[in-house]
Amino acid sequence: MLPSLLIGSIQLETCLLLAPMAGYTDFAFRSGIRDLGGMGLAYTEMLNPRSVMQGGGLKREALLATGPSDRPLGWQIYGSDPVLMAECACFLWETRQPDLIDINMGCPQRKITGRGDGAALLRNPGLAHRIATAVAAAVPVPVTVKLRIGWDTGQRTAPGLAAELASCGISAITVHGRTGKQKYTGHSDTEAIREVVEAAQGIPVIGNGDIMSPQDAKTMLETTGCAGVMIGRGALGNPWIFQQTEDSLKHGKIVPPVSRRRRLDFLLAHLDRTGALYGIDNAAKLFRKWLPHYAAALGISKPRMVELMQYRETEKLRLELKRTAV
Ligand SMILES: Cc1cc2nc3c(=O)[nH]c(=O)nc-3n(C[C@H](O)[C@H](O)[C@H](O)COP(=O)(O)O)c2cc1C
Repeated sequence: MLPSLLIGSIQLETCLLLAPMAGYTDFAFRSGIRDLGGMGLAYTEMLNPRSVMQGGGLKREALLATGPSDRPLGWQIYGSDPVLMAECACFLWETRQPDLIDINMGCPQRKITGRGDGAALLRNPGLAHRIATAVAAAVPVPVTVKLRIGWDTGQRTAPGLAAELASCGISAITVHGRTGKQKYTGHSDTEAIREVVEAAQGIPVIGNGDIMSPQDAKTMLETTGCAGVMIGRGALGNPWIFQQTEDSLKHGKIVPPVSRRRRLDFLLAHLDRTGALYGIDNAAKLFRKWLPHYAAALGISKPRMVELMQYRETEKLRLELKRTAV
């Protein structure tokens, strides 16, 4: 059973969300997943308000790129200045017509938390509240917040913060079941996510962390009572996970394995879209980070993958991938 998910005024087709992932969840990847089905909502990677509003630059344009079929799309911004965050949300609303805006309060990277942004806001609930209030008041679309369960095990502030956020115009909260200090070590804590669900006073909470299969999504929904599930790393190399989870949980279908042919077709189409987005001359280099995610299921050995990662010409990489993987 898949619950239906309403975020503010947006009724999602499924309650399965693609996590924001810097360097990965660009237009090229999102469009591929949308073609496969099952995903109810995608997010951009976290965006810096100043870079968004500055204008110009190929990299910025690629980060902001989207298209008519790339909907619904949430735009994630990060920062700790309520005025700047509200200005950026407004700018995005005026220039990109986002379906919703998401505020990052979970990024654990030191260069982000060192400036008081991302997960550092979990230690500063007053400021987190001011940011959420300012952004929610600035735009006519739903605003969501993405949290971790707290800064560290001694400061599991997410339930209290969720209760506060519910009163300041936030339409949904996503919670990753790790602390900021944990980064990606250990396991995502479903019990801690359940505490946030209970504290959030009726606004939908989306559970996130370690969903690698339809069964993991089912367990997340059942053990936490969350309203939706967000999938990150489990979608890298397995973009079928959304469709598989929908088929399995909604229709009780047994998930058949994805053939190598389909995997290769997806990979090549992804490479082509990367070329269209960043320029054909840049695609092979940018695609290096994707190869480890696709290689094993395509039967590509580690040494061969390392070789493939050296190719600089996109057309050459394309030919070699075809030759290696079939
Ligand atoms: C490479 C990478 C980049 C990420 N970038 C972002 C980001 O831009 N914004 C954000 O809120 N979370 C980001 N995250 C965290 C994910 O959204 C997600 O919360 C986390 O990976 C746990 O979910 P998972 O176990 O399904 O991957 C990133 C994670 C990874 C692995």
